This record gives sequence, C-alpha cells and structure tokens, in this order.
Amino acid sequence: MKIITEQSELKKEIERLKSQGRTLGLVPTMGALHAGHLSLVKRALDENDALVVSIFVNPTQFNNPDDLVKYPRTLETDVALLQTVSNDILVYAPEVADIYGEDVTAVAYDFDGLEHKMEGQFRPGHFDGVGTIVKRLFEIITPNHAYFGEKDFQQLAIIKKMVDKHNVPVNIVPCEILREENGLAMSSRNVRLKPEYADAAPFIYQTLKTAKEKFGTERANIVIEWVESQFKSHPLLELEYFVIADIETLETIAHKKENTLYRAFVAVYADDIRLIDNIALN
Ligand code: PAJ
Repeated sequence: MKIITEQSELKKEIERLKSQGRTLGLVPTMGALHAGHLSLVKRALDENDALVVSIFVNPTQFNNPDDLVKYPRTLETDVALLQTVSNDILVYAPEVADIYGEDVTAVAYDFDGLEHKMEGQFRPGHFDGVGTIVKRLFEIITPNHAYFGEKDFQQLAIIKKMVDKHNVPVNIVPCEILREENGLAMSSRNVRLKPEYADAAPFIYQTLKTAKEKFGTERANIVIEWVESQFKSHPLLELEYFVIADIETLETIAHKKENTLYRAFVAVYADDIRLIDNIALN
C-alpha cells in the first residue's frame, strides 16, 4: 500500500505502471470508507492491473460550509480498511493545495440540465464542485476505468455527461448500491444517526421497494402521492423529495411512457442527517 499526497509523485508512479502496459482503475472517494466503497474497490481490482483510490474531501462540492467542517476525516482507518481488501493499491490523499493551488473554486459546467434536477435543486453548486474535482482527478491519474456508485445516481449521470462532452478518454463503470442487511443504503452519514433514527431509516428502502411494486400496476402520480403520504405519517423521517425520473434525462414525470426506463429518487431528513436513496422501477 502506497500513500501518496503529491500529484507529482503520483504521476511518476502512474507513468511507470503505464509504461509496463498495465491498465489502471480509479475509485474516487471522500474517505470515511465503508463496505459500499469497498465494493467499488473490489470490482476495480478485479477489472484492472493497478488501482488508485483517491481520498479527498473536496471543498468545492459542499454547498453547506458546516457540512464540510463536520465531514469525517479518517485516513488511518480508511487505509486499514483498504488493506483488508488488497495491499496493492495506490492511495492518493492530497491536501487541498495539491489539487487546487490557491484558487479553491469550482468550474461552472453545463451538464445539459442534469445538474438542475433533484439534488441540484437542494444543493446549489454541488455538481460544479463534483465535476471540477472528478475532471481534475481524471487529468492527473488518466485511468482506463473509473468506478462510481449508483447510490449517487445523479452524480454518475453527470460524470458520464462530462466525459462525453469533454471527450475524456475514460470508461465510467456504474456499480450497484450496497445496503445494510436491513436495506438502508450504506453511507458515511449512517454512523451519525442517533439510535432511534437508525432504527427508523430502513423505512426509506422499504417504501422504495413498495413504490416499485405499485409502479408495475398504478399510475406514476398515484405512486408519488402514496409515498408522500407514507412519509407524512411517519413520526421521525421528513421527506425532502420523492420523484420518478427517466434514467437518461433525469426528467421527472407524473405519467409513464412506453419504452422508457424509470428510477425513483428520494431524499429524507432523519433528524439533521440527510439521506438519499434510489431504486430502478422497470
Ligand atoms: P463518496 O461519498 O465518498 O463516495 C465515493 C463513491 O462511493 C461514489 O461513487 C459513491 O456513489 C459510492 N458509494 C457510496 N455509498 C455507496 C453504496 N452504499 N453502494 C455503492 N456505492 C456507494 O461521491 C463522492 O464521494 C464524491 O462526490 C466524489 C465522487 C469522490 C467527488 O468528490
């Protein structure tokens, strides 16, 4: 396991690997690693000769400064977790200056409107920050394959769009959502849930699963109303949004069309912790 903090050193390592003709995978993360992240790491190890895992809490994607301060930074335990999977990983864990220099700002991107939907409405500027850091990482690391979780489905769609629009030579690999046994999507935020909220949170995925069943037979607007009413009568969980969207355009719908694939997306507050999840509907 090599832990590298300077991009100049990382680039030398990568040149060496590439000169040996080795394929390179990248798993970008913000650390506070859990089994969900590790599922991406395992897949990337299987599909590449060498692997970079980046661990960087990217300041430009936090629309809420308090969230940035509170974000857990646990490099030692992250490295120990990665070591349980493989010793043969390059960890890139830079300081802010190594990525941004003096200018810690996001590039303003046009993702053909994908950035204004769902999360974009509640987290202004977030996807510009994500686009900025991911493009930067692609330029520094030049991976053949980069792995992203469907947990952040909109992020994945936006990164695919960025790669297409800017002709970035990397293959984006979507990875399934890893869940706790009780169905709750794994997230770095779950450990911050107070016990009663941790007990309540699996309700989110249970509701998504029933929404999926209903979507088979009912109209989309009926499913939406049903989910909204479920959360209204829940004593602890507060729904921020529930939408059904076309997986290509992320356009939200009230009525389904033939030959279109849909996913349901949800954001919920459990106390002050914001949880997101999604499910394929057809
Ligand atoms: P982070 O939240 O650390 O997530 C890193 C990657 O792990 C993302 O692709 C995310 O979708 C994936 N992931 C998280 N929980 C998952 C789960 N339960 N199942 C499957 N995959 C999961 O997403 C980011 O960091 C940042 O925005 C980043 C892309 C690194 C840019 O800063």
